[in-house]
Amino acid sequence: MQDYLILPSLLSADFARLGEEAEAVIDAGADMLHLDVMDNHYVPNLTVGPLVCEALRSYGIKAPIDVHLMTKPVDRLIIDFAKAGATNITFHPEASDHVDRSLALIRQHGCKAGLALNPATSLHCLEYVMDKLDLILIMSVNPGFGGQTFIPSALDKISRVRELVTSHDLTVRIAVDGGVKTENIGQIAQAGADMFIAGSAIFNQPDYAEVISTMRKQLLCAR
Ligand code: DX5
Ligand code: ZN
Repeated sequence: MQDYLILPSLLSADFARLGEEAEAVIDAGADMLHLDVMDNHYVPNLTVGPLVCEALRSYGIKAPIDVHLMTKPVDRLIIDFAKAGATNITFHPEASDHVDRSLALIRQHGCKAGLALNPATSLHCLEYVMDKLDLILIMSVNPGFGGQTFIPSALDKISRVRELVTSHDLTVRIAVDGGVKTENIGQIAQAGADMFIAGSAIFNQPDYAEVISTMRKQLLCAR
């Protein structure tokens, strides 16, 4: 089952107990932590910077940290998050004037590189950078807030990205972010995603392990 990754989004965690919450979801069976970085400029919300990523590492979090930059610009933060212990760094193509350079910067600093596509962003931006990507993140809500409803057109987009990845014979992960729940995770997997980011669906329930194991059961049925 490790070819399907479940990533709780810390955006819906209790920020006053972030270290404990991160530990709890990993103990509950999550594969990675998803950290949403918002700058009140690229998106209308403000969250955390590299200090918080570093604090999670100092607290003892060893699990991979998947950093989702919803900031503009991105290059300085790429370097700072790499130093702060990020595993993956993903940004939105609209937020960098030089997408190719920003992607290269992520790998130069020892992290895996991702591009995040908003609901209205076309797949054209992937065309000349496929070999520089470790993951493609399909946004199934408009970025900025947790707890929004999954936009159904994301399913067709995921399928098209899966075809693209297969036709290039690459091992690029396809992540989906926004409105992922136990009820739709199977359908999202069938469309072609293999990395599932879920915030409110996990953190708004009292038993994280139960939600994650239900998600794994749904993924097993979707095969
Ligand atoms: C939205 C963030 C998501 C968000 C998902 O901008 O990128 O990671 O936390 O939250 P849910 O799963 O509640 O839609
Ligand atoms: Zn995110």
